[in-house]
Amino acid sequence: MTGKTKQDRLYAEIQAGIADFVFDERVAMVFPDMIRRSVPGYATIINMIGALAGQRVAPHSRCYDLGCSLAAAALAIRQGVGDLDCRIIAVDNSPAMLWQARHFVERAKSTVPVDLVCADVRHIRILDASMVVLNFTLQFIPVARRRALLQSIYAGLWDGGILVLSEKIRLPNKAGETLFVEMHHAFKKAQGYSELEISQKRTALDKVLIPESLETHRRRLRDVGFQTVEVWFQCFNFVSLLAIK
Ligand SMILES: C[S@@+](CC[C@H](N)C(=O)[O-])C[C@H]1O[C@@H](n2cnc3c(N)ncnc32)[C@H](O)[C@@H]1O
Repeated sequence: MTGKTKQDRLYAEIQAGIADFVFDERVAMVFPDMIRRSVPGYATIINMIGALAGQRVAPHSRCYDLGCSLAAAALAIRQGVGDLDCRIIAVDNSPAMLWQARHFVERAKSTVPVDLVCADVRHIRILDASMVVLNFTLQFIPVARRRALLQSIYAGLWDGGILVLSEKIRLPNKAGETLFVEMHHAFKKAQGYSELEISQKRTALDKVLIPESLETHRRRLRDVGFQTVEVWFQCFNFVSLLAIK
C-alpha cells in the first residue's frame, strides 16, 4: 500500500455469504471514503477534535487516539495543538490500518511526535493524558469490557483532562430507532451507496458493532468518575460526548 486510498465499493457486488466486518487491508484502502460517506458529521467531528485539542491539551502531557484507523483524529489533534510540547499516541490493532496511517502521519509536517502503536486498546496503559479520543471505537469493544477501558482512561487522565467519545447509538424507543435508522440510510443513499451496499454492510456489521443507548454511555461515564458529561454533537444516531475529569 502506498498511502493512496480508493472509493469504497466493498459491498457493491452481491455476495453469497456475508462475513463479519473486519478492519483488514481492503477496508484500510477505502477507509477515508467509507467513513466520510457512512458517518454523518464525521468531518465536523474530526475538525472539532482539533479545536478541542487547541483548548484543552496541556503542555508536557500525552494525547491518545484509541482505535485510530488512519490517524485522522491524531492528526487533527496535532494540528490543533500547534507547537505545544506534547506527545500523541495513536493505537489500533489492525496492522493494515496502521500501515496506511503511517503515510498520512509522515506527510503532515509538525514538531509534535505521533507514535503509531499496534495494540489492543484494552491492553495499553494510559499515562499523563490531557486528552483521549475514542472516535467510533468503543462500539467495537465487547460490551462487558467497555467499563474497564473507560476506567483505565479515567485513571490515566490528569484532572481537567478530556475524553471525546463518539459512537453510533441505539434509541430506547422503537419509533425513534426506526426514524434514525431510516435517516441514516437516506444519508448513505445520498452519498451514493446503493440499497445492496447498505444492506450487505449492515449484515456484516450486525454482530461486530454493538451500539448502546446515549443514557447507557452517560451513566457509565459518570460511574467511572467523570464529573462533566455533555453531548456536543449529534446527527441522527451518531453522537459525540465530551467527558471531563
Ligand atoms: C470506526 S474505526 C475508528 C475510526 C477512527 N477513530 C477515525 O476517527 O477515523 C474503528 C477502529 O478501531 C479499531 N479497533 C477495534 N477494536 C480495537 C481494539 N480492541 N484495539 C485497538 N483497535 C481496535 C479498528 O481496527 C478500527 O481501525
